[in-house]
Amino acid sequence: MSKTILITGGAGFIGSHLIELMVRKYPDYRIVNADALTYAGNLENLSGIDKAENYSFEKVDIQDVAAVNALFDKYAFDGVIHLAAESHVDRSIESPTEFILTNVLGTVNLLNAARNSWGEGAEGKLFYHVSTDEVYGSLGDTGYFHEETPYDPRSPYSASKASSDHFVRAYYHTYKLPVVISNCSNNYGPYQFPEKLLPLMINNIKNQQSLPVYGDGQNVRDWLWVGDHCTAIDQIFHGGRVGETYNIGGHNERKNLEIVHALCDILDRKLDRPEGKNRELITFVTDRKGHDRRYAIDSSKLQGELGWKPTVSVEEGLEKTIDWYLANQEWMDRVTSGAYQGYYERMYSGRE
Ligand code: NAD
Ligand code: DAU
Repeated sequence: MSKTILITGGAGFIGSHLIELMVRKYPDYRIVNADALTYAGNLENLSGIDKAENYSFEKVDIQDVAAVNALFDKYAFDGVIHLAAESHVDRSIESPTEFILTNVLGTVNLLNAARNSWGEGAEGKLFYHVSTDEVYGSLGDTGYFHEETPYDPRSPYSASKASSDHFVRAYYHTYKLPVVISNCSNNYGPYQFPEKLLPLMINNIKNQQSLPVYGDGQNVRDWLWVGDHCTAIDQIFHGGRVGETYNIGGHNERKNLEIVHALCDILDRKLDRPEGKNRELITFVTDRKGHDRRYAIDSSKLQGELGWKPTVSVEEGLEKTIDWYLANQEWMDRVTSGAYQGYYERMYSGRE
């Protein structure tokens, strides 16, 4: 194996797509997936590659210093791509502390372990921190987030991610740890946990349940196909400049209500329901506290330096996403019933 790469959070939505890409594209890399398997971690997402010779899984909670250090002792990592996080804004509003423990403390535990393992300078190593556009706060009707936009997080989730970004940069400046950060807009696609807008709405439309749109539904998000995020991570990991930040976004701004309307209309067609039927399910509900109004990313630095471009338009991506959820009802049933959480015990009991 030419390199050993740690990917944290690889049983989650984006992590599982990234692991699949890296395991298949780089057969000479050993890819180690470290994940605590919280409610958001589902090893069934990795069934396409989990027997590959260059892949291994480690059940590790990044809050646990001893477990993180033992992981770095077991493998001599050449690089880290850090995705493990508590990722859902509504959960952070209900219960912020877990976000501090995983997103801030967990990140610092990994930074310390990388620093101890690599020493000062750490030639040829890289700690890649995957972050979010939410650290920049909320935009008005115009303008974009760029890499120099001042941080202005407004939810416990975005505050915890902003804090982790600051620690990553601090380790670069203070200890010369080679780091790179990317801040990405809203991802969507297969395997997304049905607490997030798209899978929640698709599932509710399918089951003819009400569609809870927060506030006036006019909040804007910049949607990016998850596979395009993963190719950006791959390109930044291999070609990004150490110490730099890269913004990743789809130039696919849509109001929430536009997205929900599109899902309703596509599913009218695919489920053979009368035109307009699904829109009757829309219910405007109390707004999210501190709800950011608009996100939009300027990704020209990434496009200019590394030639990355999003390849999937929202129209194409929504069709692909809906088709995947319709074809994978069993996945949704196992996630909503909690059955997926038994997978680890079945697959790994007796192996440790
Ligand atoms: P997710 O919630 O689907 O997955 C998170 C994964 O992290 C899960 O597998 C979970 O088990 C694991 N995890 C949580 N706490 C852990 C801990 N203490 N120790 C080890 N593993 C733990 O999240 P996602 O949507 O795939 O996001 C992945 C990363 O990308 C996050 O850092 C998130 O902030 C960032 N991000 C997400 C989006 C998006 O739209 N989803 C956009 C930009 C950035
Ligand atoms: O911008 C990147 C971020 O995108 C990531 O860092 C987060 O991890 C990810 O969860 C996502 O955050 P959002 O809060 O934008 O995503 P969510 O799917 O929760 O909500 C999208 C929009 O839809 C938001 O304006 C709130 C609204 N919404 C959401 C849900 C779940 C609704 O109107 N109704 C809902 O039921």
